[in-house]
Amino acid sequence: MIDVLLGLQWGDEGKGKIVDVLTPEYDIVARYQGGPNAGHTIIIDGKKSVLHLIPSGIFHPPSICVIGNGVVIDPVTLKKEILSLEEAGVEVRSRLLISERAHLILPTHKLLDAASESAKKGDKIGSTLKGIGPTYMDKTGRNGMRVGDLTRKDRLDVYHNLVQKHLRLLRPYDFEFDLSLYEKDFHEALDFLASLKKINSEQFLNDALNSSKKILAEGAQGTMLDIDFGTYPFVTSSNTTTAGACTGLGVAPKHIRKVYGIFKAYCTRVGSGPFPTELYDETGEQIRKSGGEFGATTGRPRRTGWLDLPLLKYAVTLNGVTDLIMTKADVLAFLPQISYAWAYQTPDGILETCPFELTKEITPLLRHTNSWEDISGVSSVEQIPQTLSDYIKMVEKYTGQNITYLSLGPDRSQTLKLR
Ligand code: IMP
Repeated sequence: MIDVLLGLQWGDEGKGKIVDVLTPEYDIVARYQGGPNAGHTIIIDGKKSVLHLIPSGIFHPPSICVIGNGVVIDPVTLKKEILSLEEAGVEVRSRLLISERAHLILPTHKLLDAASESAKKGDKIGSTLKGIGPTYMDKTGRNGMRVGDLTRKDRLDVYHNLVQKHLRLLRPYDFEFDLSLYEKDFHEALDFLASLKKINSEQFLNDALNSSKKILAEGAQGTMLDIDFGTYPFVTSSNTTTAGACTGLGVAPKHIRKVYGIFKAYCTRVGSGPFPTELYDETGEQIRKSGGEFGATTGRPRRTGWLDLPLLKYAVTLNGVTDLIMTKADVLAFLPQISYAWAYQTPDGILETCPFELTKEITPLLRHTNSWEDISGVSSVEQIPQTLSDYIKMVEKYTGQNITYLSLGPDRSQTLKLR
């Protein structure tokens, strides 16, 4: 069977840490979409690691880690990540399997990302500029270069043809660049990638399912950044929802058992786009500081705001969430009072789901509640303060799903199983 773990907000919900906590229950952890725009942070015994491409199960040998066909891979980032893990004593190469169908991010994809973003005026997406959008565009445009192409004799021709196309696309932009600065590292990284274990991952995963192995599918970004269901056009370029696990790994829906949906006790967003419950005041700043809300990939300060229940419920529905996991409730402990949105006021009345567009005319309707005292030392369900317990019950009632785990801090050990 396969369980899926994904984010229910705009990414950065703490997926990396939870995958790391759950991995001992699984034989295989597989990433299914996105690319190095992700930054999954894991803290073990006070030591912090940020993973961009490698599944967060890598810290639990002997579990196998798979990068699925739905992921887009920057060979330079992958090489750096592997070398830095190996330097820290983690065995990677024997445990990392890469789909031959995964698409490659070329240096010119990153240039296209930067040129297109800088040409936008007030409507910038706030992209991480890792080349994600242009690579997925080449995938759907049927021009892309895949991991499996590395074994082709004409691999360099494939590369140069694609680069020529990109250079033609870059011409109209007022954008200066020097491609030669990136190409040496890129080709060295391609050779490195060619030496890694490249597989037919859909076959591998289906064989594993048929021999009763347990697989955890690790999502990246979050539901509100999904290309179809997110706050379009301020979204990423892949399906971040449960359906993405099927297409991004080649596994059928009938194999899915649990869907773990992760959300923060509040909301954050990095990059542009609508954010109905955003806080522009001192409280928002306090949450940012207390929660360390700065992008793991870009270092950008994250926008902060209250929990948005209509969007959370929408995400639960789209993903078929069976188990909720709430993270970072500890961050709100210093506030006397907290708020959450239970509906939106729209020109047409009160709405409790996600509208087509979250325009300025749609305002969140907030309810307020007392916060809780410091919970960093809580180690059993009985020690959970009443106000937090009430907050948990309120979310469960609204979404119709149970919260199974509570994360009370960044370390592996600060995780409480509620059920
Ligand atoms: P892109 O995927 O880099 O093109 O970025 C598109 C939007 O998704 C931007 O607003 C990014 O800030 C956001 N984004 C992409 N990846 C992540 C992530 O892993 N966490 C949070 N936001 C992300």
